[in-house]
Amino acid sequence: MKVLILGSGAREHTMAWKLSQSPENPHIYVAPGNAGTADVATNLPLSVTDFTGIAQAVHQFGIDLVLVGPEDPLVQGISDFFAADPTLAHVPVIGPNKTAAQLEGSKQYAKEFLIRHGIPTAAYAAFTADTLAEGQAFLTTLKAPYVLKADGLAAGKGVLILSDLQEAQSALAEMLVDQKFGAASQTVVIEEFLSGIELSCFVLTDGTSYKVLPTAKDYKRIGEGDTGLNTGGMGAISPVPFADQEFLDKVHERIVVPTIEGLKKDNITYVGFIFIGLIKVGDDPFVIEYNVRMGDPETEVVLPRIKTDLLTLLRATGQGKLHEVALETDTRTATTVMAVAGGYPEAYEKGHPISGIDQVKNALVFQAGTAQNGDQVCTNGGRVLAVTAFGTDYKQALAQSYLGLSQISFQDMYYRKDLGFDLG
Ligand code: AMP
Ligand code: GLY
Repeated sequence: MKVLILGSGAREHTMAWKLSQSPENPHIYVAPGNAGTADVATNLPLSVTDFTGIAQAVHQFGIDLVLVGPEDPLVQGISDFFAADPTLAHVPVIGPNKTAAQLEGSKQYAKEFLIRHGIPTAAYAAFTADTLAEGQAFLTTLKAPYVLKADGLAAGKGVLILSDLQEAQSALAEMLVDQKFGAASQTVVIEEFLSGIELSCFVLTDGTSYKVLPTAKDYKRIGEGDTGLNTGGMGAISPVPFADQEFLDKVHERIVVPTIEGLKKDNITYVGFIFIGLIKVGDDPFVIEYNVRMGDPETEVVLPRIKTDLLTLLRATGQGKLHEVALETDTRTATTVMAVAGGYPEAYEKGHPISGIDQVKNALVFQAGTAQNGDQVCTNGGRVLAVTAFGTDYKQALAQSYLGLSQISFQDMYYRKDLGFDLG
């Protein structure tokens, strides 16, 4: 069995590592990958949106299954591209088609889906440049803070939460008229603000049956105490301690089941991962967003807790036979802490040598922005690597992640030392 993973982050390194544990010993390719994926897989120098190049690689290497890491190829229609080509249609792509990928690619599409299927979410309205005045009037009917979301993909930056009405009204104009986020803010979704604690739930589905994977909570801000700029993610914890069985049952009944049923009612055959961003308001779950892929860094804690062979799960997903596979999970807690380049998420340097990765024996090191330079692994991105460890609870697991990190160094290395600060 030959599997091609698309992506180059710690998420994809975790996927490649997990597949490399399979008793079937699959040959794993990663495009484009990083210095870490090269340890467990063959890297291919291809962009994740170079569909023609990917098709050539699939033919050349006889790839049997494609696992898509990030959202861009999905939103651009890689699944449809494979399905439409008779020489590729037999190769399952784990990732939804272009229509379903709008659940992540368009906030308005996602909100319409949620409302249509009666899934709990914040009340909203959507506006364009033609309806700017209505949008500004709508803001006056809401209480602060005001939540403004660019409809399209904006690299995680398209959501503004503002406490002042005038500021929100000018921001709406900047987004719609001045195209603050380019084409992504041609439509803006304005939402009721929900106050609570966030967590994420992950589902793998073959279009008919599904498995609910472990929950996780990520830490998005660069600074301790959840302050400063948003990042791709500074760390994650799984399971989420405050998501008890009663709450998880509500998530299943009110959110997971209606999501799967909703896709069927909308005639969407969804094959792949659904990442449901939730907020717990009081004791009740609400959907903040859908993503049509696994999270990063959530994958770095979710996959290590799955005991079932990932190859078996993915193949069954591609064949529509997921109901035949039992999902087994590790009851321990996993934590991951992301080490980033100094300055990230603003300007940062690349090319600094990383030392100590081989010294880490108590934890797993999943690489993100790294590149091999001769014998030396060097930094090559903002988020550089994630250190994942296990424990009987999140505090013990975190102590091991931090111990692992203390053995690694590179110039201007930074990581948050307060993960779990909000968990009591
Ligand atoms: P999104 O890209 O939709 O996940 O939004 C980014 C972040 O903004 C979320 O992770 C939340 O922290 C916050 N957020 C989004 N929508 C709301 C909302 N309706 N109420 C409160 N916070 C929100
Ligand atoms: N950690 C959030 C994301 O992957 O979008």
